[in-house]
Amino acid sequence: MPARLIDGRAAAAALRAEVAARAARLPCRPGLAVVLVGEDPASAVYVRNKDRAASAAGIAARTLRLPAATDEAALLRVIGGLNDDPSVDGILVQLPLPPHIRSRAVIEAIDPAKDVDGFHPLNVGRLHDGTATLVPCTPRGVMRLLATAGVALRGARALVLGRSAIVGRPVAALLTSADATVTVAHSRTRDLAAECRRAEVLVAAVGRAEMVRGDWIAPGATVIDVGINRLADGRLAGDVAFAEAAAIAGAITPVPGGVGPMTIACLLENTLIAAEARRR
Ligand code: GUN
Repeated sequence: MPARLIDGRAAAAALRAEVAARAARLPCRPGLAVVLVGEDPASAVYVRNKDRAASAAGIAARTLRLPAATDEAALLRVIGGLNDDPSVDGILVQLPLPPHIRSRAVIEAIDPAKDVDGFHPLNVGRLHDGTATLVPCTPRGVMRLLATAGVALRGARALVLGRSAIVGRPVAALLTSADATVTVAHSRTRDLAAECRRAEVLVAAVGRAEMVRGDWIAPGATVIDVGINRLADGRLAGDVAFAEAAAIAGAITPVPGGVGPMTIACLLENTLIAAEARRR
């Protein structure tokens, strides 16, 4: 039987509606500041999408566009101003930054209570000890999709393919907190296919188009595909060979329309969580 599709567009729409309803109950609108340094066209599109989605959910969004030549000290001053601004609940600095700016110094300058990316070391530590409130957006979206699909995680064998700081590692921490038995596999793992075949829940986040083949999937497994890769013919593909995998898996996310739409919805949720915490 072909796999059940896990619909990220529907789940993201439901989450955006939930955020809008909760935002409307606050005494004043949550505020999100997005900082974009330079003119990278892909980053400009992402930032515009974040700004629009926030506004549609009743979040007061503003985008600060700074020239590519902005130096690190000037960017740190901008962040200091946003940290001190009571109308700003969430701060997001779009990555990558120009090479002359140290991303780490910038991330560490953001007030952890306003760090809606969840990248500040304090929030990373909280994520790993199971006490985080601001969780990185894509990992939060992965967990939300698993919940909406009704996937039981307690005691389940989960495999995370990829160990990046923004997806693989945080997803592994969240699955561990949800009582799954978690393996993190990566480019140095011996026999990736065999590791994948043992998984009841497989989260692929390696950024290599269609690397996970159908015969890597256990019959009935849940497959969450975080990859968004552009093929030579212009089509988008995930990290999983979708048609092959869907013939074997129990449930699977498509690309596009799976994890992708969840990321911005979870950014809005993080902004709301930050705003609610700051109004308590
Ligand atoms: N660039 C690509 N993805 C992200 C993200 O999740 N957060 C930020 N700040 N920049 C990004």
